[in-house]
Amino acid sequence: MTNRLHDRVALITGATSGIGEATARLFAAEGAKVVITGRRRDRGEKVASDIQALGGVCRFVQTDHTDPAACSRLVERTLAEFGRVDILFNNAGIVTSGTAETVTDEDWQNTLAINVTAVWRMSRLVIPAMRAQGKGVIVNNASDWAVVGARDALPYAVSKGAVAQMTRSMALDHAHEGIRVNAVCPGDTFVERWLESGYFAGSEPVTREQAQAESASTIPMKRFGRPEEIAQAVLFLASDESSFVTGHLLLVDGGNTAQ
Ligand SMILES: NC(=O)c1ccc[n+]([C@@H]2O[C@H](COP(=O)([O-])OP(=O)(O)OC[C@H]3O[C@@H](n4cnc5c(N)ncnc54)[C@H](OP(=O)(O)O)[C@@H]3O)[C@@H](O)[C@H]2O)c1
Repeated sequence: MTNRLHDRVALITGATSGIGEATARLFAAEGAKVVITGRRRDRGEKVASDIQALGGVCRFVQTDHTDPAACSRLVERTLAEFGRVDILFNNAGIVTSGTAETVTDEDWQNTLAINVTAVWRMSRLVIPAMRAQGKGVIVNNASDWAVVGARDALPYAVSKGAVAQMTRSMALDHAHEGIRVNAVCPGDTFVERWLESGYFAGSEPVTREQAQAESASTIPMKRFGRPEEIAQAVLFLASDESSFVTGHLLLVDGGNTAQ
């Protein structure tokens, strides 16, 4: 490893699995002190203890990001222990399906609450510390569906489009304060959650092979992304290697949106 995040304090939302977990492991290996969140305590504590066993610094703070008070407590605790927040990776999110006619009110509201409102809320909570430091980086996890339309996934696509606009607008508002704001836009990235009911192909759990047959064949690179590949893009945006990059949407999608 190259220690690209030596002594940086990184807050990663939704790191109990998938892209967030892979990013936490990479950031810790690159020297960051990492605070990770999510609702699943067993998963979060396992990720934190794995990182610590490798000599890294990691704290799991069980947090539901739809709860404003819990978000405030998380940032207070991070500042109390580490004294600063250098990087916020707004990664926590859910996928919901449905068209304008079929999406339920509950799914619509839940999707916007975690995928949009929590991104704004967490950013609002860390910006004062970043301003005081004169430096900070926010990376939002959007999606390739932030830049192209999606079928039967209206609330999700709307939420990720909002994340794209939040990224650009927050970048403009805070560029003069040394705070950079960018987004990673993953294409289909195979995560464990896909194997659960309802996440990917209708209401039944799918195997990797079924998912591959259904979707990967349309991706120019003919495969899904891996969480570790998305984490490398997040690392670029979070590190000084992207020091003149702000308001950018970095597509990591195997060429999907190039077609
Ligand atoms: N995989 C893909 O193909 C893909 C493509 C484009 C974008 N993305 C984006 O990548 C991000 C991560 O998703 P993933 O694919 O890695 O799936 P994942 O493994 O399901 O990760 C989602 C993470 O978000 C957390 N989360 C969800 N709701 C939460 C809440 N209310 N409070 C706190 N944490 C919450 C989950 O933790 P708990 O369940 O423990 O709460 C989990 O750690 C999402 O924003 C997703 O939209 C994924």
